[in-house]
Amino acid sequence: MTIENKLDSAVLKSAKRDDSVDWQALKLQSHSELRRRTVEHIRNGTTDLSDGPMLIATTAYTDHARHEHERRVLFQERPILAALSGDIPNPGDTFLFDEVGPPILLTRNKQGEVNAFLNMCTHRAAKLVTECGKKNRMSCKFHGWTFDLDGNLVGRPGEEGFCGINKEDRKLISLPVTEWHGLIFVRAVPGGEPIDVVDHLGTGFAAELAHLELEKARPMKTSRINVEANWKYAMDTYGEGYHFATLHPSSIGALAMSNIMSYSNYGPNHRMAMPRADFLDCADTPESEWPPTSYGGLYYIFPNTVINCNTMANGEQFYGLSRLFPLEEVGRATSLLTTYKPGHMAEDADPTLWTNMHDFIHKVVETEDYSVSREGQANMKYAPKGFQPVLGANELALQNIHRHIQALLEADK
Ligand code: FES
Ligand SMILES: [Fe+2]
Repeated sequence: MTIENKLDSAVLKSAKRDDSVDWQALKLQSHSELRRRTVEHIRNGTTDLSDGPMLIATTAYTDHARHEHERRVLFQERPILAALSGDIPNPGDTFLFDEVGPPILLTRNKQGEVNAFLNMCTHRAAKLVTECGKKNRMSCKFHGWTFDLDGNLVGRPGEEGFCGINKEDRKLISLPVTEWHGLIFVRAVPGGEPIDVVDHLGTGFAAELAHLELEKARPMKTSRINVEANWKYAMDTYGEGYHFATLHPSSIGALAMSNIMSYSNYGPNHRMAMPRADFLDCADTPESEWPPTSYGGLYYIFPNTVINCNTMANGEQFYGLSRLFPLEEVGRATSLLTTYKPGHMAEDADPTLWTNMHDFIHKVVETEDYSVSREGQANMKYAPKGFQPVLGANELALQNIHRHIQALLEADK
C-alpha cells in the first residue's frame, strides 16, 4: 500500500491525529524510499536534473519594488509558518512572531486551541505583549486594558470614560491561524481567508510532513542571524548540494556528498536528500543488509522554510527548522534557526546533543553559507547590464522556487 493511499486527504485533514495509523512505520518507509533513490544515484554517479539551466534576473535580488511585492504577496497574504506546536505547548502560553511585518501574538487558550492576533491594544494601538511566556490575562502597559487568551477585553480601568464604546467591539484583532500536525500557520492579514493546511501544502507533501509527528517535537535551542543579503540569496543556499565540497570542505562537505541529490517536487514545495557518508556503505551492500535510517532529508515549505530531518553522530535524530524572512531593505534578511528534539526521543536524553548540533549548524550557515550570500549580494549591484545569474539543471529545486515566486508576483499584478 502506498503512503498516498493510506493517508488520504480525509485522514490528513482530521483535526486529531488518527492513532490507527502507524506513523512511525510510515516515516521509516518514506525515509527508506528516499535513501534507496539516493543510493542508486551514488551507484550510478547521477543526480536528479531538470531539463536544462535557467537564467534569472539580478533584479530578483536587488529591486526594491519587487521586494515590497514579495513581502506582501508571499509573507503576508499567503499562510506562513509562525511556529511549531512545541513552541507554545500549554494553555496560557504566548508566542511573539514579528517577522513578516505586523507584530503577531499567538496564544494557546484554556481549551488548548491556538489563536493569532495583531499584537496591538485596541485602546490606542500600543504593543500589548512584549515578552513570550505563560499568562492567563494580558494587560497593556500603557493604560491597563486587559484581554483574555481569546482576545476578549475583560478589564478596562476608568470604565466611565468609555461610555458607548462596547467592550465586545474592542476585542483583539484576530488573524487566520491553523494548527495542523505540529505546524502553526498564520495569515498576517486581518479578515483574510481561513487556512486549510492540507490544501495549502498539497496532500502528498502534507503526508510527508505528517509522518514527522512534529507536534511532539520540543525546541532545544533557537538563534537568529541577520544576513546582509536578499532573503532569496540566503534561502537558495538550502536548495542544492552542489556547493558542499567547495564551500563546506571541512564541515557539511565532510558529512555529505556534493552534487548528488534526490529531489521530490510538490508544487512549490519539495523534499530532497543529499547522500550522507553512511549511504556510501549502503552503495556497496544489498539493501537487505542496510541498517534502519532516521534521515528524512530536507523538507522545504515554500517560500522560506526548511525542516532538516537528520541524525547526529550517535544516530539520534534532530529536526532543524531554518526560516528566512525579508527585512525592509531589499538586501537584508533575518534567519531564525531552531533545533527540535523529536517526540520519540527519551525525556532524559542529554540536551547538549541537540544544542551542540544547533551550534554547529548556526556556525556553518553564518560563516560559510551566509558569508557567500553577503558577498554575492554586494556583487549584484556591480554586475554589468544584461548579466544574469544561472541556475544549473542540477539546481532544479531553486529553479522551481524562483519560477513559483515569479508566477505568484505576476498573478498579483
Ligand atoms: S493603549 Fe493599551 S491601554 Fe491604552
Ligand atoms: Fe551550504
